[in-house]
Amino acid sequence: MSDHTDIESVLKEDRIFDPPADFAERCGGAWVDSMEMYRELHRESIEKPEEFWGAVANELDWFKPWDTVLEWDCPDARWFVGGKLNACHNCVDRLIDLGHGDETAIIWEGEPMLADGPEVRQLTYRDLKDEVSRFANALKALGVSRGDIVTIYMGMVPELTIAVLACARIGAPHSVIFGGFSSQAIADRVDDADSGIIITCDGAWRRGSTVPLKDNVDQAMEMTDRIKHVVVLKRCDNDITMHEGRDHWWHDLVEDASDECACEEMDSEDMLFLLYTSGSTGKPKGIVHTTGGYLVHTFLTSRYTFNLRPGNDHVYWCTADVGWITGHSYIIYGILQNHVPTLMYEGAPNHPEPNRFWDICERHKVTHFYTAPTAIRAFMKWGEEHPRRHDLSKLLVLGTVGEPINPEAWMWYRRVIGHGRCPIVDTWWQTETGGHMLTPMPAATPTVPGSCTLPFFGIDAAVVDEDGGEQPADTGGLLVIRKPWPSMLRGIHGDRQRFIDTYFSRVEGMYFAGDSARRDDHGYFWIMGRMDDVINVSGHRLGTMEVESAIVSHDAVVEAAVVGMPHEIKGTGIAAFCSLGPDWKPDEALRKSLREHVAKEIGAIAKPDMIRFTDSLPKTRSGKIMRRLLRDIAAGREVAGDMTTLEDFSVLANLRSQDEG
Ligand code: WT7
Repeated sequence: MSDHTDIESVLKEDRIFDPPADFAERCGGAWVDSMEMYRELHRESIEKPEEFWGAVANELDWFKPWDTVLEWDCPDARWFVGGKLNACHNCVDRLIDLGHGDETAIIWEGEPMLADGPEVRQLTYRDLKDEVSRFANALKALGVSRGDIVTIYMGMVPELTIAVLACARIGAPHSVIFGGFSSQAIADRVDDADSGIIITCDGAWRRGSTVPLKDNVDQAMEMTDRIKHVVVLKRCDNDITMHEGRDHWWHDLVEDASDECACEEMDSEDMLFLLYTSGSTGKPKGIVHTTGGYLVHTFLTSRYTFNLRPGNDHVYWCTADVGWITGHSYIIYGILQNHVPTLMYEGAPNHPEPNRFWDICERHKVTHFYTAPTAIRAFMKWGEEHPRRHDLSKLLVLGTVGEPINPEAWMWYRRVIGHGRCPIVDTWWQTETGGHMLTPMPAATPTVPGSCTLPFFGIDAAVVDEDGGEQPADTGGLLVIRKPWPSMLRGIHGDRQRFIDTYFSRVEGMYFAGDSARRDDHGYFWIMGRMDDVINVSGHRLGTMEVESAIVSHDAVVEAAVVGMPHEIKGTGIAAFCSLGPDWKPDEALRKSLREHVAKEIGAIAKPDMIRFTDSLPKTRSGKIMRRLLRDIAAGREVAGDMTTLEDFSVLANLRSQDEG
């Protein structure tokens, strides 16, 4: 499966799948049940966004209603101006007030297989409220108050969601760092956010062994002195060191804490969270999301995109980690608001066996399954026999997110997991957009493998040229959003100029997503890929510059260039071209050491898949690295295109003749 065959099959794609005839019935109804309804509602939502979003916001609880739905002064949007609300209240207390206190909010399954099966915990809305309130009080007792940024670095345990909601409850923005990131990454984010407290676990279970989360935090604390308190949840019982005065056990803190904690009345535009993501420079950016608009948008997209039915009929499972935006929006906030049980699984998809996900689907009667194309490609490789062993008949909707899905993977997903009876929702969105932007409506939109189809309500998406003019059908261009939407980012923490430059400077007056795309003659969107120096590795976003800086910080390396290359499972893999200092030998041991070094600097997800050593990198006469050329070499393609600016042709021959590694 090379990317070339994929592109060709995408261009020739003519398979269209209508929503299965019995889908709405199997779901117990459909929110958007025809294309007529979709088009009508979409038109209204674009023409009268304030009426449309105002009506949605009315379904949530507000301590004080808003005065104005939207104030827009590009690039600054303010939604539900003057309104007061609380995110935790809307995800938890509101459901209890509606009489659902004893119904399941969270289903959690641990990774280790014990003698009588895995550990499972179910929390009702009332359990959740008690636990969240206790922990919120514990945070307050440590001096955390409204507006303080709380860093969270945990595994996928219920306490992660509890910590997130406790922050929301007391108005302290959370900054969740994915548990796969390194101590350096933690320290950088803690410094950038000026965060004084971090919540972690002793360890996290992953494929039968433990990830030393607390050790990583300890190392990070040697690189920053901002942290005053470390809260540690005991999960794996691995050996750790507790630092007197600084470190506190979670269970000690909550032991005597009251389970009464009033929700702070937050302004609609108060920051709900910061989430770091990669960009074109080496420095990750802290994306700022605020309260009112984010809640309204994640509430409605969850309801419509997944066609959720409130109550305990549906069991929704998103396999992402809470450390990414997908987990924030579609494990926690969007799903809890919709009064549907949300499943959290702690570990790896193939532990102890490659059937683990399907075993979970069967045992918990999962109805909605949301995952990334990279996972689907791994399942394809592991073989159909694993899902075939399990009863997947409860499944209603299959979702995908994070990267373009190749049509082969889409067809496999539909046939093997969905048995042809589940619509696939391919959802395009970003950390910055907060929620779904382009997606089918499962009971209405005919789907085509590889296309994320049409814009969500209120989303004015277009493919344009550099001047903002719309491209004709089947012509690539820049993917932009022309009007504000409720869950759009409000800024990059501490970097106003970067916010403007990155998103609002490329095309006048429009949000530029960083992706290129085209629309076909039905108006369906096809995402073509990133236009900046961002690569998408297994659905995780990495900046090539970030990886380059990590590599050059190794003693051996003088200069490095990192590009994406086609990868069968990851979609995009990482290729690194390095030139070494005089005393270093280009051998396997050094390759290994470089890979470990990158894992230490950023995290295991950033380890290069291929490292090539070279005396020098191909550059133009003005000294710019010719990345296009490196991409061709990494992909094993004939080096094509104009090379007249290449400074030294021998560099090229040298790069091509090398063994892979
Ligand atoms: C980038 C955003 C949104 C949560 C996960 C990733 C790519 C995302 C799709 C899709 C094609 C996709 C884009 C986007 N992307 N979803 N359905 N089809 N590409 O969030 O880390 O902020 O990355 O992921 O390139 O810009 P993220």
